[in-house]
Amino acid sequence: MRRLLCFIFYICYVECKLWPRGVVHYAINKKDYDPHSRDIIASTFEQLEREVCVKFFNTPLNFNATNDEKILYISNPDKRKDCPPVDYNYDKNIVDMQIGYKCLNDHDIARIVLDMLRASVGKTAKPNSNDLLRKFQEVKQSNAETLLSASDRNFINGHYLEECENLIKKPVDTRRSTTWTMEVSANNEKYYKDKLWPFGIVMYGCDPNVLSLPEYSKISYAMMVIELASCVVFKSFTLKDPLQPKNLLWFGLQGEEMPHLGFLEGNQTLSISHMAYGAPGHSAHTLNALMRVLGIPMMSNRYDRDNYVTINWKNVAMMSEHYLERVSEDAWLRNTEGEGAPYDYDSVTHAPANFMCADCSLGEQTVTPVQDHLWQRTLSMGHNSELSSADKETIALLYNKECQKRIASDFKK
Ligand SMILES: *[C@@H]1O[C@H](CO)[C@@H](O)[C@H](O)[C@H]1NC(C)=O
Ligand SMILES: *[C@@H]1O[C@H](CO)[C@@H](O)[C@H](O)[C@H]1NC(C)=O
Repeated sequence: MRRLLCFIFYICYVECKLWPRGVVHYAINKKDYDPHSRDIIASTFEQLEREVCVKFFNTPLNFNATNDEKILYISNPDKRKDCPPVDYNYDKNIVDMQIGYKCLNDHDIARIVLDMLRASVGKTAKPNSNDLLRKFQEVKQSNAETLLSASDRNFINGHYLEECENLIKKPVDTRRSTTWTMEVSANNEKYYKDKLWPFGIVMYGCDPNVLSLPEYSKISYAMMVIELASCVVFKSFTLKDPLQPKNLLWFGLQGEEMPHLGFLEGNQTLSISHMAYGAPGHSAHTLNALMRVLGIPMMSNRYDRDNYVTINWKNVAMMSEHYLERVSEDAWLRNTEGEGAPYDYDSVTHAPANFMCADCSLGEQTVTPVQDHLWQRTLSMGHNSELSSADKETIALLYNKECQKRIASDFKK
């Protein structure tokens, strides 16, 4: 078995461009496909996830694709109707996949996706061990009709087995500090550099129609909680102000459901109701959304989180998987001895147990703490309305420099 894996690995090393960790990050061009078509695509992906170990994560269009983290871009620039077999180019950061209008059904999409995945494996490699393949057949013995044939499923699963296991593989245990006194390393700096708001100032404005809504009070309150606990300021402006900011958050009745992680140039329009309300009972939702604005990833997405929580991917709502992905190790703060910051279930950035759940009405969970005998963590995660002391220290470490610049410039006036 080991030897076979090495064999496949060897062939792949030369030939393939497997999607890392078996995750295909995709974005759909909204101009080419209406919401209904986008749903068909996403639900086909969901069906395929039951047949192959590869996962499909919807990703915002401003995702920065790199050679290691490619993105599958689904579009139809030529307004094609059909979808003949094509070659897929894995040399670029963006892999194009076109779905013609007549092919917007689960069988055709499955065929296109199969071609795309086959291309990632390369043409010559063929797995040939029954042991390896049986592992997947055991789980997939339901009588329901499948989109892919058994041999196609086995081909993909055989090649992706090792990558797929990496998605849930626990990172090698690094030492963790028992208390908080962290510092910002060079790697941290690189990770957070583009995410911090200059001078620690977040400018925001809003559609006059939202001013009287309870959602608006909720957001103002959360801003105040952060301001009281940190040096960051949220400054409002109105359209009448003579000097209009270039980079701002705009709260409207309609807009993005989730803010960008960290600073974004220009006018970022956010839906006020999505900013104010998350999963039922997630009282830290608004605070978490604002922490996201500040560039602070969720605790439950931390690089080593699989040692503390289990993600039940099958319960995660379609197209929201991206919000539960582990972030780079560079986001994790460390102390002078190189020990990572302790894991903090009390952080306002920790997901509640029903975060991004498709349907958790019967108590299903998307995020389950490991070893939680009395359900304490399950019940309290994501339910804080004050920043934890680690949250405060995180903002201070990341923003003190920016805030000092602001205070120095105020001083000169
Ligand atoms: C994307 O990544 C490249 C290289 O890492 C960087 O130069 C560029 O500024 C990034 N763009 C955005 C929008 O983050
Ligand atoms: C920001 O964009 C929204 C539309 O997305 C617009 O209604 C609003 O007036 C813009 N705000 C500013 C200050 O430009």
